[in-house]
Amino acid sequence: MTRPAAVWPDAAAAFYAACLDRSDYAATVGRALRQALAPATTLLDIGAGSGLLGRAMLQPGGRWTAVEPNAHMRGRLAGAAGVVRPRVIDAAWESLPQLARHDVVLCANIPGPIDRPRMLLQVCRPLARRAVAWVVPAQPGPRGPCLAGLLPAHLHGEDETPGVDLTLAALPSDERPDQRIDVDWTFRALFADQAAARRYFTDQYGDRLGDDRALDAVLAPHLKAVAGGLQAEARKRSAILIWTASGETDR
Ligand SMILES: C[S@@+](CC[C@H](N)C(=O)[O-])C[C@H]1O[C@@H](n2cnc3c(N)ncnc32)[C@H](O)[C@@H]1O
Repeated sequence: MTRPAAVWPDAAAAFYAACLDRSDYAATVGRALRQALAPATTLLDIGAGSGLLGRAMLQPGGRWTAVEPNAHMRGRLAGAAGVVRPRVIDAAWESLPQLARHDVVLCANIPGPIDRPRMLLQVCRPLARRAVAWVVPAQPGPRGPCLAGLLPAHLHGEDETPGVDLTLAALPSDERPDQRIDVDWTFRALFADQAAARRYFTDQYGDRLGDDRALDAVLAPHLKAVAGGLQAEARKRSAILIWTASGETDR
């Protein structure tokens, strides 16, 4: 299979999954999803990652299909102990194998909704019996590396338009979602020490962030000593976008 360039290396996937385990993402976004849509009897979870949201969305006894092109994430999905495991498919949404329709199709924080929303919607809609749900970045600020928002704009250098604004602007009025729910949450990363925190940023941005002392000064206000190292927190907002097959949500 040809891999889209956006598919992470395993180390980046492992870091992200560990951060989500420390964050309130599954609790807050999962709760909002369940309130907006009754739990899915069958769930097609595209770009499922470690499966936190899919697990939160699935009705007990439901059937869960996870599409995931990253090997580390597939290992987490298949190997999780003591919890529901999905059927795991190694694919990207751009080249899905033939799939049956599912009650709900979920795309949470995957590449596509911001830069190719019409194409992704065309893939999702025929596969959804009841609803398509996307989770899209909605905070004003950078959308690249998860902790980019800790840097001042002149250092991260990214466009700060909320991703959801770009998604909605790219969809014609008859393809806009039936419902939008915004949820605030906090992304949490743990670094062993100051040098590891610095390395995270220099790996992403190279030496444009200045020397070690300059970068330490930028990061210091954001790093809190906790058991096991230094914790960094980034405030996030996610927009849940829902398209329903009937034109109505369950609530
Ligand atoms: C930011 S993570 C989100 C994971 C999960 N949906 C969540 O909300 O926690 C993005 C996931 O999308 C996957 N991914 C990247 N490119 C993809 C593509 N073209 N098709 C499907 N999944 C993709 C990545 O491997 C990764 O697991």
